[in-house]
Amino acid sequence: MPLESRVLSALLEHYVIVAAVAGVVYTAILVAHRLLFSPLAKFPGPKIAAVTSWYEFYHDYFRRGKYVFKIKEMHDRYGPIVRITPHELSIHDPEFYNSINVSGSVRKTDNYEGFARGIDFDGTHFLSTSHDLHRRRRKPLEPFFSRAGVTRLEPMVGEVAKRFVRRLDSYQGTDQVIRLDHAYVALAADVVGKICFESNSNMIDEPNFGVEWYNLLHNFIHSLPLVMAFPQMIKCVCSWTTVLNLTFTRILNIIPSEVLRWLDPRLVTFEKFRDYARQHIIDAKRELEEKNDYETFETRNSVFRHLLTSGLPESDLSVERLTREAQIFLGAGSISAARTLDFISYYIIANDDYLKRLHVELAPLMEGYPKILPSFVELERLPFLQALIKEGLRLSYGVMHRMPRVSPDQPIFYRDWVIPPGVAVGMSAYMNHTDPDIYPDPFTFNPERWLNNVTPAMTRCLVPFSKGSRNCLGMK
Ligand code: HEM
Repeated sequence: MPLESRVLSALLEHYVIVAAVAGVVYTAILVAHRLLFSPLAKFPGPKIAAVTSWYEFYHDYFRRGKYVFKIKEMHDRYGPIVRITPHELSIHDPEFYNSINVSGSVRKTDNYEGFARGIDFDGTHFLSTSHDLHRRRRKPLEPFFSRAGVTRLEPMVGEVAKRFVRRLDSYQGTDQVIRLDHAYVALAADVVGKICFESNSNMIDEPNFGVEWYNLLHNFIHSLPLVMAFPQMIKCVCSWTTVLNLTFTRILNIIPSEVLRWLDPRLVTFEKFRDYARQHIIDAKRELEEKNDYETFETRNSVFRHLLTSGLPESDLSVERLTREAQIFLGAGSISAARTLDFISYYIIANDDYLKRLHVELAPLMEGYPKILPSFVELERLPFLQALIKEGLRLSYGVMHRMPRVSPDQPIFYRDWVIPPGVAVGMSAYMNHTDPDIYPDPFTFNPERWLNNVTPAMTRCLVPFSKGSRNCLGMK
């Protein structure tokens, strides 16, 4: 037998050993590359974080979202810039936040592909990786969510708010406890549902405030570290389950409601919203086709009717893509707004003085209630209300997770460091908002700080909606 054949058969006989050796060699090369040769090798930070993303996964999945605190510890130890995963840096320097999160006129900003991969929202503006594609998809949405756009929505928001107050009033004199976190998700979802698809869904009046939607969103968030760490696994499970390469939401699309209801009642809420959105988009498209005339096609208060006439290319107007956009709005719009309202309400209820001051400040504007509602402009002029809102936004943080940004073609200069193009850099609103040099006694809810001696740094570093070209669209 020739020598090569003998070597080959020996190798085959010992394929386990060969595989193990190959694994060890591969790992050694990977570790060496990450520690010594990667463009991030020169940045400080713990070696374990530089070598493997499992470190983040452990803290975020098993310790339920605690990596952000670990990152803070790294900054305390290694300084304002640290390497937190093999592919990402974190900067903790509130004054630099606005230099990372920039508008398109300063620099392009790509989404970091590793962020939110695996969740099946590809094609939405939110997860569009390249700066230019994100701009193209986001630009037509901006007028709808601009100050003028939001002012047009005021009467609708007012009606939903009145319904909400009626529902809370109905508890008067009963001993029942209201879960405000559930109630506010219902309020926000009813508003966003109307904006997205003129929905008549009425979670506010559901006996449990439509808690299924609340649970679905929270479970989804808890599963994010798993889905993001193993996007291929999720796809694999899906393809194995369906033989085809269908992802989670696509699977949901083909399961009949009865089966879904039986599998998990929460998924029905998801399905209900998706169906509302899809039907609304189909109807609007049909109407536009029949009219064939942008002039008489009313965009009304629906973001999707508005999008259809916005000049987006046909490829971006498919029912599937727009339905996913609707899901992004519902998720992004309901949970963060509700969280901020929870915070503020809790502190108002827990503090008699806040409650009294708010009553006094609001009384003149509420004289005509429920016939006449105060306007956005009038409410903006109330200093104590605004201070409560700012402090609520500061301590509810918006999104606690770092929002990694990538400069695709220009290096970023930070102090003596040069961050090469293509590297993801994350900064966290949590770290900004709890920096004691900017907000003394940072973990105390203190609206007073927004009434006297407000420093420019306090305003600059308050970033609950993020900043720059990828900031929150629903901020107004
Ligand atoms: C207190 C309320 C809210 C807070 C604190 C908040 C916070 C945020 C933050 C921090 C981001 C940036 C995510 C990133 O950096 O990638 C974001 C994005 C976004 N938010 Fe909000 N949000 C709120 C309410 C809303 C509402 C009511 C809507 C919709 C009606 C909305 C829609 C969006 C959308 C569509 C994006 C993605 C923007 C893009 O990628 O271009 N948000 N939000």
